[in-house]
Amino acid sequence: MGLGRLPPGLVLALVLAAGAQPQEQRPRESHNLNWNKFSGFWYILAIASDARGFLPGRDARKLGAAAVQVHGVGRLRVVLAFPRSQGCRSHTVILRKDGKKAVFRNPLKGVAGFRVLTTDYSSGVVDLRLGRAGRGAKALLLFSRQNETTFPSWRKFVDICEIRELTRGATVLPKDASCAHTILP
Ligand SMILES: *[C@@H]1O[C@H](CO)[C@@H](O)[C@H](O)[C@H]1NC(C)=O
Repeated sequence: MGLGRLPPGLVLALVLAAGAQPQEQRPRESHNLNWNKFSGFWYILAIASDARGFLPGRDARKLGAAAVQVHGVGRLRVVLAFPRSQGCRSHTVILRKDGKKAVFRNPLKGVAGFRVLTTDYSSGVVDLRLGRAGRGAKALLLFSRQNETTFPSWRKFVDICEIRELTRGATVLPKDASCAHTILP
């Protein structure tokens, strides 16, 4: 289901319903993130991208996953599993922190940026840039430790999609964990 196809009133209702929930733990951004706490297995519940072809056709869509591991000072080992038209694909990359900036990258492996925009360590929104700067794909990923998440997490994802004008490219992935579980630790 594309979020972009939801009637605006429904998105607003979701946001208002979320607003009525008790405040969760304050979100943290990647400059003061505890990477050990952020490590481990995450489901990818939703994706918003400006790139056509980032997601396979409707029938091939499934939950994605990421396994994040601290790999020495300023380094992360990230395994990503994504459903593609040809089936489930996984990629492993070692990312390096970009100096003092809260972004990790490995341009030679096609990752121009991996940045956690907000997280409470049970869910989060990640900004992933693939390809070369300026020419690649931008994607926002909704991470969750579980195969589902709370209204406040969805609201944050929708809010960030709206700010980045990616709402039209936003897709909630069907709850099929067969691809995600291929990278379970
Ligand atoms: C979601 O996770 C729960 C708990 O691990 C599991 O019982 C349930 O079957 C999962 N749902 C789907 C659709 O995979």
